[in-house]
Amino acid sequence: MQQAKRVFPKGFMWGGAIAANQAEGAWNKDSKGMSTADIAINKKNINKNDYKGLNAIDDNQIKKAMIDPSDANYPKRRGIDFYHRYPEDLALMGEMGLKVLRLSIAWTRIYPNGDEAQPNEAGLQFYDSLFAEMHRHGIEPLVTLSHYEMPMHLVNEYGGWTSRKVVDFFGNFCKTVFNRYKDQVKYWITFNEIDGIVRHPFTNGGIVPDRFENVEQAVYQALHHQFIASALAVKYGHELMPEAKIGCMLTSLLHYPHTCSPDDVLAAHRNNEFNLFFSDVQIRGKYPNYMKRFFKEKGIEFQQLEGDAELLQTYTADFLSFSYYNSFVASKDSEGLEKVSGNTMGGVKNPYLPLSEWGWQIDPTGLRIILNTLYSRYQIPLFVVENGLGAYDKVDEDGRIKDDYRISYFKSHIEEMHEAVLDGVELMGYTVWGIIDLISYSSSEMEKRYGMIYVDQDDDGNGTLARMKKDSFYWYKEVIEKNGL
Ligand code: BG6
Repeated sequence: MQQAKRVFPKGFMWGGAIAANQAEGAWNKDSKGMSTADIAINKKNINKNDYKGLNAIDDNQIKKAMIDPSDANYPKRRGIDFYHRYPEDLALMGEMGLKVLRLSIAWTRIYPNGDEAQPNEAGLQFYDSLFAEMHRHGIEPLVTLSHYEMPMHLVNEYGGWTSRKVVDFFGNFCKTVFNRYKDQVKYWITFNEIDGIVRHPFTNGGIVPDRFENVEQAVYQALHHQFIASALAVKYGHELMPEAKIGCMLTSLLHYPHTCSPDDVLAAHRNNEFNLFFSDVQIRGKYPNYMKRFFKEKGIEFQQLEGDAELLQTYTADFLSFSYYNSFVASKDSEGLEKVSGNTMGGVKNPYLPLSEWGWQIDPTGLRIILNTLYSRYQIPLFVVENGLGAYDKVDEDGRIKDDYRISYFKSHIEEMHEAVLDGVELMGYTVWGIIDLISYSSSEMEKRYGMIYVDQDDDGNGTLARMKKDSFYWYKEVIEKNGL
């Protein structure tokens, strides 16, 4: 076989990523409780640029969903039936040569309501079998503890993460899964895209905006609790598994200035700084000064207990993982400028970048920039745990799925990632988002496909659920074999 020209460091973790709530389905099987994801309706008909509409949720929708026993309107309830089909899926991923699969443990399988004293044994057994099967295929699990799937009971009875009690409940969940899986799982991530709470408080924080007078204040209170919960997860995890690596995670939202006017540069700087606030706390171990000013000017006050500052300082993350899909443009005054959106937020359109079919700006160079930015700032290992292209795929008559657009997306991003490694960035690995087609997070669509493995299911849940290899499947297999391009 030909040698790769862009070779990655030995032991580089090539992989894929999914999340329980978007893949497992079986939303009420084996005593699983209802989670925030089970409330989400298909929003395929919403204008793709209406990111506010995509992020919206109200009390009525929740009340209706809570009493609806069917999965007809709630695609995440059915997922892609990974719950039953994981042996076949893992066999395909094994064939691809994946070294690592990032997935999450659904809190509601282990503690259906979130506040029980004892875990649900059936839920624990499911992940026993899943991890065992992964190891049989030589695939290392990278487990996210919280990926947009908190128990609805905690939302309704405690106000989600605004309650300090939820820190304890999450701590119990962490201890339970650490104890149970300490021999199977070495890599953990505490919260998926912890910064998402400011854009979609419900999915990240279990905050129903209608139920709070001051939503912004509730958001920062909940976020503080998640910072503490994340620090405690690092503490408990290291006590039980001294060798384990426990990381935090960010949505990287890189902003360029619209022009070289200092005002635009400052606007971009502010947005970038705000994006890094979350990792500043979790890696540098304290609230940065620029946020103290922000809180003061906005009159935001949230409760911090004695000892919190010490917890944040002591139990910082071992690595920084992040998702990267697109970049943004900031301007001091964006009125009259053309706008785009992507990944639950919007900005000014960048004339230099192509758009995906969902209007997300595709920017491989941005990945190199963000890798360098994060590494210069924190000097700890980085992990790209999500990167991918949502697209409409077509199955040809001969059963082939020619997703050359996806291959070129990945190729260009991997090239830039390799440049960043040459720049000196310490990079643990790369897990492509949606290694297998799954339900999209923001719009709950099935037809927004990210996978290298196709799943025969449409937006209404019709289809055989059969799995098929796309062209990108074979391409990525070769990348992994050669450890590069
Ligand atoms: C990330 C999430 O923000 O983006 C994933 O962690 C999500 O859960 C992914 O699926 C892509 O977004 P979407 O809305 O296209 O599924």
